[in-house]
Amino acid sequence: MTRKKGTDKMSDLQWIDKHIRLNKNLAKHLLKPSKVVYNANAWTPLKLISIGFFTQMYTTIIKGYFDRWLYCGIFSGCGLNYIENRIYFPGSSFFAINSSIDNPFHKMYFIDSNKKRIKALTKRLEYVEREIEDFSFLGSTEESRCQYMTFSDDYGKFIDETDIFDLLDEEDTRTHALVVIDPEGFEMKWDDLKRFFHYPCDIIFVYMTSEIKRTWGKALKSRDFAIKNMNGLFGGSSWKQAIEGDDLLPIFIIQIEGLNKIVKTIRVKKSKSSFYYDLLVITRPTRGGNPWLSAVDQLKSRIERSGSSMVKASLDYLEGKRGRLDDFFPINR
Ligand SMILES: C[S@@+](CC[C@H](N)C(=O)[O-])C[C@H]1O[C@@H](n2cnc3c(N)ncnc32)[C@H](O)[C@@H]1O
Repeated sequence: MTRKKGTDKMSDLQWIDKHIRLNKNLAKHLLKPSKVVYNANAWTPLKLISIGFFTQMYTTIIKGYFDRWLYCGIFSGCGLNYIENRIYFPGSSFFAINSSIDNPFHKMYFIDSNKKRIKALTKRLEYVEREIEDFSFLGSTEESRCQYMTFSDDYGKFIDETDIFDLLDEEDTRTHALVVIDPEGFEMKWDDLKRFFHYPCDIIFVYMTSEIKRTWGKALKSRDFAIKNMNGLFGGSSWKQAIEGDDLLPIFIIQIEGLNKIVKTIRVKKSKSSFYYDLLVITRPTRGGNPWLSAVDQLKSRIERSGSSMVKASLDYLEGKRGRLDDFFPINR
């Protein structure tokens, strides 16, 4: 599972092929200890590739500034996706692990309220720790190079009970965290999200943009569940300031920026459809001006030029169902 250095000269399609090919191999291993999967869509790999890209960059840079770095996967899932009933693909948890091999996290927390999923994830973690040499840095004990902990309950309970905030607060050991929040919809509440803002953290938050717009429409029609969801996510009624649905994301971002944060967005789209979501990359401004954010901009361009149809084309190609012109003119393959 060694990684080759990427090149910007690759076409977007070749770039997607590369990531899918590399991660398909890991998925084969993940299927062995458990058959539990999360059914996902053609645009999901774009989200996961982004999480992997960011994690690799994060773990490479953070070691120059902090003694210890932690990972917190809220809504971590079972560790394996089944994309469009076609291919198995690692979930966010294994993207985070695989992308941090060179600079492992000191501790990784995985949280999901679905017992079956977290059990499958735990089995997978135990399996890769035991069977894959590249992952032998993982372990469930305090002595492990990277200690993982799985938590099968509501994430709110995790926030109340976890030691992560104590670790981030320690004065003797400079500690930072990468927090990946990957809900299906409105599960994350503003007040809980905001708690992380008090600590040294970078956050990737999957903001379900088109779904939130739809719910806003229903909230305007006084539908109780929609009002409750909007209030929970926005931490109050700021969403009422929106004149049109497209105002909601900027309102949410301004709210975060108001707490002295920088927010970058990466839009993940279902092709030929009005469905999309935004990955919000949330970080603290630093004296150096956060130069690594330009790498996020490059990632943004790649992901936003792509879409689910490009992932599908890549799957067709990798399954041998479709040839491609660049087979005859191989560029940077
Ligand atoms: C989009 S899925 C996560 C996918 C996963 N990150 C991956 O890449 O495979 C959202 C997950 O949130 C979990 N979930 C929903 N509500 C939750 C809650 N209140 N607390 C913890 N987990 C929850 C669900 O069981 C589901 O596995």
